[in-house]
Amino acid sequence: MRLIFLGPPGAGKGTQAESICKDYNIVQLSTGDILRANRKHGTELGRKAQSFMDAGELVPDQIIIDMIKEELKKPELVNGYILDGFPRTVPQAEALGNLLTDMGQKLDTVLVLEVPSEELVQRLTARRTCRTCGKSYHLIYNPPKKDGVCDLDGGELYQRDDDKEEPIRNRLKVYENQTKPLIEYYTAKNLADNINGLGKIDEIYSNIKQVLDRYK
Ligand code: AP5
Repeated sequence: MRLIFLGPPGAGKGTQAESICKDYNIVQLSTGDILRANRKHGTELGRKAQSFMDAGELVPDQIIIDMIKEELKKPELVNGYILDGFPRTVPQAEALGNLLTDMGQKLDTVLVLEVPSEELVQRLTARRTCRTCGKSYHLIYNPPKKDGVCDLDGGELYQRDDDKEEPIRNRLKVYENQTKPLIEYYTAKNLADNINGLGKIDEIYSNIKQVLDRYK
């Protein structure tokens, strides 16, 4: 199964992708996680991406396209994948289309997770993320078992620099202007499945499952 997860910052893409990958035995490819891992390890890519990410701006298209091109070659993707946070612009979507054609691959669907912006600000300001594995929690809606500690690996939970009020507002603006047009782009290709992202995490997942079971 090959999927794209499209939705605004804080819509719950990372949260839901975790369950999807477990149940459908596919791999999550999150461009945000890959960039953060590069920053942590001080690579050239990480250094190039840093200022854009902290300001809530998009990293330039060509950097992201080169990065995803390498990722898509990895053998662990053989059972399928979910692209989380990519594509985010029309040029990225076009580049992905070309890469998939070259690789003889087709997308099954684009899941569009819809959440109103007031809720997104609320979710992101109270998000905490594991420094080790990147799993995200919410201080109220999805708290860890022990304060400040990741349930999965005991890693320290921290607040991302771009989860502060100002970068959040900018990320939402960037989404509206640059990423939202992709909903129309994929709808025109008959590839979009809309999911209501408001409600309990489990209920949203069960709606996602109903959609994905059609592509098994
Ligand atoms: P990235 O890491 O991709 O950030 P994002 O798209 O802004 O998405 P998030 O990770 O913030 O949100 P999410 O939808 O995964 O939400 P989550 O599940 O955590 O990108 C970061 C930066 O990297 C970008 O700004 C850019 O600079 C750069 N970048 C990345 N990809 C790029 C690209 N392709 N091109 C250019 N630049 C790129 O949930 C959020 C919170 O809500 C959590 O606390 C969670 O516990 C909680 N929550 C989840 N579901 C619910 C629910 N149903 N009810 C209540 N709370 C919930």
